[in-house]
Amino acid sequence: MFDEQTEKFYAGLLKEHGSPLFLINEKKLKESYENLSAALKEYYPKNLIAYSYKTNYLPAICETLSKFGARAEIVSGFEYDIAKKIGTEGKNIIWNGPHKTDEDLKNALREKCRLNIDNKEELGRLEKIAKEMGTVVNIGLRVYSESNARIFQTWSRFGFCIEDHEAESVVRMTLRELPHLKICGLHTHLGTNISHPEIYRSVIQKLGQFNASVIRKNNISLQYIDIGGGFPLPSNKPRYLGEWGVPPIGDYVKNIADALSAYFKDELPLLIIEPGRYLVGDAVKLFATIISQKIKGGEQWVVVNSSISALPRAEYIDYPVAVSQKQKSDAGGKINTVIFGLSCMPNDILGRAQLPALREGDVVEISGVGAYSITSSSQWIALRPAVVFVKENEETKPISEREAAKDVIFLK
Ligand SMILES: Cc1ncc(COP(=O)(O)O)c(C=O)c1O
Repeated sequence: MFDEQTEKFYAGLLKEHGSPLFLINEKKLKESYENLSAALKEYYPKNLIAYSYKTNYLPAICETLSKFGARAEIVSGFEYDIAKKIGTEGKNIIWNGPHKTDEDLKNALREKCRLNIDNKEELGRLEKIAKEMGTVVNIGLRVYSESNARIFQTWSRFGFCIEDHEAESVVRMTLRELPHLKICGLHTHLGTNISHPEIYRSVIQKLGQFNASVIRKNNISLQYIDIGGGFPLPSNKPRYLGEWGVPPIGDYVKNIADALSAYFKDELPLLIIEPGRYLVGDAVKLFATIISQKIKGGEQWVVVNSSISALPRAEYIDYPVAVSQKQKSDAGGKINTVIFGLSCMPNDILGRAQLPALREGDVVEISGVGAYSITSSSQWIALRPAVVFVKENEETKPISEREAAKDVIFLK
């Protein structure tokens, strides 16, 4: 529940910008960034944080995190354009992803971005481009551990497999046939909402073994390990999991640091991490207004003026839902409440919570929605809400207008 003063603040914004409304909170962005960077400073000072743009690439968010010190982790040409537009230097851009066009690769070389390579075809194209440009380019290889994927359900869809010697043969092929490429890093990404810090330890062990048995044996000096993102948030509980106890970020960083010290004893590499969800998840809330309510089978069913098209991950994440203090629970107690979206699909459910009796016009607040929501939303049935940025000093700045019919009609 939010207090009277907060409610007044929100009510003013909803009046000015309409409902539903996304709010981004700069204070929260700062808090998350500072927590993470403090833990890294304590346990592994040789590090670099690169914000994973795909999680939410609204320029206001990218720019704010860049101001705090975050580099940019990108996977597309247009994310590169955003990074450049907000003034990010090439050396502070890490370019990942399974598809980089020739133009992307040329931009990356010209601007000296860090490149992590996903597939053999990309290696071939990059060799050709580097040769044409008369340069030798440092690269990282994206790798994964199949056995870890089996045990921990981590991702095994991108990059080169360690266990079946695919990664080893790529290293040998690069040394033999691609003189304009120089391997100097290993990249991996385990997936998102990784629930146990030990999973990072386990993958670093595999990377350490690969380093000892392949990389060093071929006289390559490894400069960095990019461990990807994946750090979870208590507010982003996957619905299919019964229990959701999220350890503090310091536990993740400590596990990573201990594992690097254990498995890369001879020379500690630069650690790159690419958090997305952890940095932005809790910095964004969605406010929506109730348009109808009824009691059905002992539950309260409310429909709000938004939809999972604005919040696609609500399909499998239980975000926290709150209502204002005005709707006090003391009188009638709280009941199981389902928050339905306005579309005509029965699975359009934005959340479930224990809430007091609600009425048309009441406002619900859905928190923790900063990751993979605004920028992966669609216009289906519910046009996208406006977005307002709330600065640290509580000044507000509209950064995206609420969509209107014109935004759909242009699709033709
Ligand atoms: C390569 C890479 N790095 C980082 C991330 C960010 O992940 P998360 O938001 O779970 O931190 C992703 C997400 O898919 C990714 O693919």
